[in-house]
Amino acid sequence: MKTTGNTILVTGGGSGIGRALAQRWHALGNRVIVAGRRRAALEETIGARDNMAALELDMDDPAAIRAFAGRLLAEHPDLNVLVNNAGIMRDEDVTTARDLGDADATITTNLLGPIRLIDALVDHLRGRPDAAIVNTTSGLAFVPLKRAPTYSATKAALHSYTVALRRQLAGQVEVIELVPPAVQTELTPGQSTREGYLPLEAFADEVIALFGIVPTPPEICVKAVQFLRAAEAEGRFDQALAALDTL
Ligand SMILES: NC(=O)c1ccc[n+]([C@@H]2O[C@H](COP(=O)([O-])OP(=O)(O)OC[C@H]3O[C@@H](n4cnc5c(N)ncnc54)[C@H](OP(=O)(O)O)[C@@H]3O)[C@@H](O)[C@H]2O)c1
Repeated sequence: MKTTGNTILVTGGGSGIGRALAQRWHALGNRVIVAGRRRAALEETIGARDNMAALELDMDDPAAIRAFAGRLLAEHPDLNVLVNNAGIMRDEDVTTARDLGDADATITTNLLGPIRLIDALVDHLRGRPDAAIVNTTSGLAFVPLKRAPTYSATKAALHSYTVALRRQLAGQVEVIELVPPAVQTELTPGQSTREGYLPLEAFADEVIALFGIVPTPPEICVKAVQFLRAAEAEGRFDQALAALDTL
């Protein structure tokens, strides 16, 4: 992926990782469009910056995704990079029968959302030079977190989907997986100040440095996520699984 001169859509760009990366990509000389449900949050990401735009998007609504894609491409026909970053995380007690609303919502936002948005934009992206799709998974795609089973499963599924997508789009669209470790954002309440989680700005700086490598690594893995990403390959899976119980 080029580091400058792109037109980049960042979903979930109104907060956390999406906001930090959107602002850095903008500073590197890219046009950046941020999308999400909360307009005020998107506007806050943009601040006084030129060459940034906000578009409202609800990733849970298939019709809204299609309408969004039409508007996005009409307003930004140069779009060449899609960053699927929007996501939710909910704790779940699966030891007794429950309302499955959280599981449903997590699969809809984290897995069906990116699948639907990719579908809505893939024909356009295939026709653009230097096109790329970045999917944000998680270290939990590789070792699940006990208290977040559906979340971990959606990230494992998105990892798998991303690998297959990369094979199908080889030579046409670059497909990159961003694999964050635990980062200080408000993904879950109180997480932005939780000790042991990577500070957001340091994480975003490390991610941007990795995006600067030529050619772009297919997986963007900061140092802190290797504990999970490489756990199975290095024969440490059970140890990593147990270590996550303390999070
Ligand atoms: N922070 C971590 O520790 C960590 C670790 C691994 C992976 N990740 C992944 O990184 C990504 C970003 O998370 P974050 O940590 O930056 O948390 P965050 O600040 O809560 O960001 C999530 C973003 O997703 C957007 N979003 C949620 N549901 C949406 C929907 N239905 N439609 C459109 N946008 C929606 C939210 O915006 P609106 O509410 O305005 O819609 C929000 O801006 C997520 O995919 C997350 O799973 C985070």
